[in-house]
This record gives sequence, structure tokens and C-alpha cells, in this order.
Amino acid sequence: MLTDSQVHALRSRFPILSRKIYLNSCSQGALCDAVEDGFREYLASWHEHGSPWDIWVAQYEAARTQFAQFIGATADEVGILPYASAGMNSVASALSFDERNKVVLGEFEFPTMGHVWLAQQKRGAQVQFVSAVGNSIPSENYERAIDRKTLIVPVTGVCFMNGYRSRVSEIVSLAHANGALAMLDDYQDCGTRPVNVKESGVDFYVSGTLKYLLGPPGLAFLYVRRELIEQLEPTITGWFAQRNPFAFDVKTLDLSPSARRFEAGSPMVPNVYAAMRGIGLLQEIGMNNVAAQIARLAQALLQGANKLSIKAKTSEDSVGPLVVLQCADAPALVTKLAASGVICSSRHDGLRLSFHVYNTMDDVQAVLAVLERHLELMTRLDTVRAD
Ligand SMILES: Cc1ncc(COP(=O)(O)O)c(C=O)c1O
Repeated sequence: MLTDSQVHALRSRFPILSRKIYLNSCSQGALCDAVEDGFREYLASWHEHGSPWDIWVAQYEAARTQFAQFIGATADEVGILPYASAGMNSVASALSFDERNKVVLGEFEFPTMGHVWLAQQKRGAQVQFVSAVGNSIPSENYERAIDRKTLIVPVTGVCFMNGYRSRVSEIVSLAHANGALAMLDDYQDCGTRPVNVKESGVDFYVSGTLKYLLGPPGLAFLYVRRELIEQLEPTITGWFAQRNPFAFDVKTLDLSPSARRFEAGSPMVPNVYAAMRGIGLLQEIGMNNVAAQIARLAQALLQGANKLSIKAKTSEDSVGPLVVLQCADAPALVTKLAASGVICSSRHDGLRLSFHVYNTMDDVQAVLAVLERHLELMTRLDTVRAD
């Protein structure tokens, strides 16, 4: 657990935190000095050397190794992509829907996950959405949908709309028991706690750098379980997916034996430099420390909201990072909070308040004070409380 003075020292590295209460890491992580330095280092290398592709490719390979360590994988199991959707599409393009054709996914997935698989209907996919009950999706609903015709079960770690944490291990077990694959979309959680893809048993893991990994947009990672890599031949491809991109052989398709086969074009070099610094900072802080700070704040906000009789969409025992409160007018509340220096966002009728290791109890108190002044914009708990 970090001490207050450690958190304060950390906060001084994120200039925006001296001016704003930043609760929008679910959309974009705050910018820190290390990430800015990463961009500077890239620019310096460009100035200095003109076209140092050997240095840049080495940096891109270092990013692969760093992320692999971060999630408990090996470097050859990680592909680097411009965005998470590209990783999902690359996997989808490599699957055949002949023997098994069902794609089973919950209705709390980020829209891109639906779009990627709905687009595969032309290739024979049958997409089945698992219904939610209120703000959760009971495992029984997955159990009813997953069967021997199921090819893949994509699942979001945390839902972007209501902060719901999927029961990933149960869903992965259900998928595997039926001979199906499991894909974890961890974009809303990666960077908030330790991750071990081997322990979770997922076949595919996808995330990007712009949220809790503290990096810029324009960089994402795809993990593919070692045993699957060479069985899968993406049809969305390009020269950086080849065994030797620098063979420059237009007439031969020779996919890399590693997860680089899920990539396509030139590496996103500036973003690689910057993103590595963000991940490096998290590694220095320690992911258990990050998780503990986030859990403490998420719990405090949920308890404070409950005291104000505000209805939360996120479960009361949530350890974060995203807490979503139900509103009568969520966009109006975002505007009111912005006027008080709080940066957050809304989706539908939910006010999204997300925590990272750089947030404090003062942030929680400040946001609760604004909410208390605008209770008419919130959905209230209808139970009358004795206290
Ligand atoms: C859970 C989740 N998955 C995927 C995405 C989209 O990723 P990308 O734009 O990198 O394809 C987001 C973006 O907010 C997200 O929250």
C-alpha cells in the first residue's frame, strides 16, 4: 500500500493533477512526465539519425517484451497493433466458421467487439448476445448460450458503461469445457492490477495503451496462447506479419511463427516510445500498490454515494477502477462537474468516475460535494433510510 506522501510525489509527475480532479482514466489516462519524455526521446532519435529504423525496430521489440512481462506471457505470444479492434479483427479473420460457427458475447461488451463479430456473419458466424439482468450478467445466461457449436466467447474484463466486472474465470471455464476459445478484452482494466494470462487461461487477450496504461492512443497489444499461434492464419495481413519483413518478397506469404503474424504494417514508433514509459512507471509503482489505491477510492466513492442515496450502477463491493452512478441527466452532471474542475464522462444514463493510482481521497470528497449540490440530476435510491 502506498503512503500518502508516495502518492503525492507520484501526482507531481502528472501536471494536470495540479489543476484538475482527473477521474476519466476509463477514457484516457492522465499525461505524466515519463510519457512526455518518451515522445521527446523519439523526436530526438529522428532529429539525430534521420531514419534510424534499426533503433526503432529494436524499441518496438522491447515494447513487446515489456508488455509480455506485464501480463505474464512470452514475447513471441504478443502482437503489437495500432488499436485493439485490429487485434480482434486479425483473430476473427483467422478463424473458420465451418465446424463451429457460434460467437457468444455479453451485451456489456464494448461496441467494437460486437461489430467485429457481426461483420463475420458474411463468413458464416452466428452471433449470440448473452442478456444482462440489471447491471450484471449471471453466469447461467452464459451457460445457456455456450454449447458445442460455440467457436469463441469474447468477454470484457470490466464494462465501459457500468463498471461491471465480468466473471472471467467462470466464463473461460465454460468456454473451454465446450471446446470453445475465450478472448478477454481487458482494455477497461489493464494497468489497474496484476495480470497473468496464463493463470486466467484465456486464449486471446487484448488491450491498448491509452487508458490505465497511461500511454497515448494508437497502440494496442494482442496476446495469443502459444499453442494456437501457428494454427491461425490471419487474412488481414501485411509485411510486418511475415517471418522476415525485410526479405521484401512480394510473391511469398510466409507468416511469422510468432504472434507478430497478427500484425500488418509499419510499427507505431512514436507511440511505442511513449507507451513504454507509462507501463514502466506502473511497474516501478508495483501493480499490487496500484490495485490497492484504486480499490480504496472506489469503495469510498460507492459508500459516499450510498450515504447520499444515489443509485450506483456499479456493484457496492466493486474494487474499481470504474464507478458508474445512475443519473436523471448524466451529460448535464458532467458539465456541472467540469465547472468545478472535475474531469469525467458519461455513457447513456451513467456518470463514469474512474480511479487510478494518482487519485486521492480528496478527489472522492470533492466529487461527492459536487454531487450533493446536484442531487436533482441523479437517480436516487427509493428506499427510505433510518440513518
Ligand atoms: C473495453 C474496450 N474495448 C475496446 C475498446 C476500443 O479499442 P480500440 O479503439 O483501440 O479499438 C475500448 C475503448 O474505449 C474499450 O473500452
